Amino acid sequence: MYSGIIERFRKQLPVSKDTPVVSLKEGNTPLILSDCLSRIIGKGFEVYLKYEGLNPTGSFKDRGMTMAVSKAKEAASRVIICASTGNTSASAAAYAAKAGIKCVVLIPEGAIALGKLAQALIHGAKVLAVRGNFDQALSLVKEIAAKYSITLVNSLNPYRLEGQKTAAFEICEDLGRAPDFQCIPVGNAGNITAYWKGYKEYKQDGKIKSLPKMLGFQAQGAAPIVKGHPIKNPKTIATAIRIGNPASWRQAEAARDESRGLIDAVSDAEIISAYKLLASREGIFVEPASAASVAGLLKLAGRNYFRRARRQAPGAARIVCVLTGHGLKDPDRVIKVIKKPKVVKAELKAVLKEIGY
Ligand code: F0G
Repeated sequence: MYSGIIERFRKQLPVSKDTPVVSLKEGNTPLILSDCLSRIIGKGFEVYLKYEGLNPTGSFKDRGMTMAVSKAKEAASRVIICASTGNTSASAAAYAAKAGIKCVVLIPEGAIALGKLAQALIHGAKVLAVRGNFDQALSLVKEIAAKYSITLVNSLNPYRLEGQKTAAFEICEDLGRAPDFQCIPVGNAGNITAYWKGYKEYKQDGKIKSLPKMLGFQAQGAAPIVKGHPIKNPKTIATAIRIGNPASWRQAEAARDESRGLIDAVSDAEIISAYKLLASREGIFVEPASAASVAGLLKLAGRNYFRRARRQAPGAARIVCVLTGHGLKDPDRVIKVIKKPKVVKAELKAVLKEIGY
């Protein structure tokens, strides 16, 4: 029986036999070959989607949270705290419930998707909506965790990144090698940092021979790394990555530079177009922030980035796009971008007319 990422990758994680494993059987998510995207990028390219929305709470955060909460429990911590654009809070609340410890979450008021708020509340977290943005909420929880014996479970907690690096391991296991390129959304920049760490460790262990180029994508109105300075009032419909001053800024730049990749910005329109394409052509429903990786892929393809790269290094190339969270997290967004269903009379004739029979 599958037992979660800690048991599966125990040797690569900082746990001992005394660590009480708090798991919801996260990880083991599918790597799906996208025919449609492979065709768009061109001959010789295979595009894969790492569907992290299929984790227990619907996002990749669960990989980090099983580690952070297990280690908090090992240290006999009674309370965990985080700031969140939604997914971290949903995950922290669920793992705290499983562990029997208290969870406090600070969210930016009115700026998180409904599904995520519902999750944090139903799992019994103490949820506080702060009149401010994510960056302000993060400074507050950092201050609280420094002063009181409360464990911070944002990605500043090193165990979070340890857990999240296991997604890179799974990709290598599935492909039998590392991908050549990896597209990933960037918000607080923990995940790009974690993946890069994972790939480097697998290479050091001799499990893979090459490393991917890391291609990170921020939303245009919330792109501090691309612009080179913090953004005071970040704006984007992709609320999960509406972050103006990422905690792992330097590490994300290191991943970009060491891998000879890039970090670029994608517009809300590009995000929505990738969001619709994934749902309508691949049958995969993600939340808007997750579609940033595919929006970025398409933007680079439009600039012939992959074709040029291939001229330098001929041969088949594998691209992995990380899809970080499930579309059901943010149902309001669908209703805003797709036409609502037509209302018809409860009569056979009326229905047949509408469906063209
Ligand atoms: N995609 C989704 C769906 C996210 O929820 C996040 C981050 C990211 C991408 C970006 O990952 O921060 O590691 O660069 N969400 C955090 C949260 C900030 O609070 O849930 P990152």
